[in-house]
Amino acid sequence: MNPDDTTHPREQELLAAAWQVRESALCTYSHFAVGAAILDGEGRVWTGANVENASYTLGLCAERVALFYALTHGARDIRSVVVVTGAAAPSSPCGACRQILFEFAANATLVAAIADGSVLRTTIRALLPHGFDASSLT
Ligand code: THU
Repeated sequence: MNPDDTTHPREQELLAAAWQVRESALCTYSHFAVGAAILDGEGRVWTGANVENASYTLGLCAERVALFYALTHGARDIRSVVVVTGAAAPSSPCGACRQILFEFAANATLVAAIADGSVLRTTIRALLPHGFDASSLT
């Protein structure tokens, strides 16, 4: 199944959760609010928004906030990652998030969306070809 052509059955629910949590973004410096929603293997939804800091580089992207929240509450087998922004076009995760997501959610679907309904559908693995993971350490 090509994720580009496939709408996850719970995509609308995940999008709604991502838009809602985006309201909680602490994006004081960039004013670029991002919301993320993650679906785990048990069907649970975990959300997060970006959090910035006066020491700019210490902020954390919405995807990692949501993923670390999910993982630290026992979520595994991540199936889908949904990201929403106020940008003019769907924006996919930054390089740091791609690396982190590759370790824990390589086979997950990635859905990036904006308010007008434009959507980018792909997979985490497709975003990081030849990615570095634990197998690389052997
Ligand atoms: N940001 C995310 O939360 N996710 C992305 O995929 C891209 C960027 C955040 C980081 C920073 O708080 C703001 O958006 C501007 O880069």
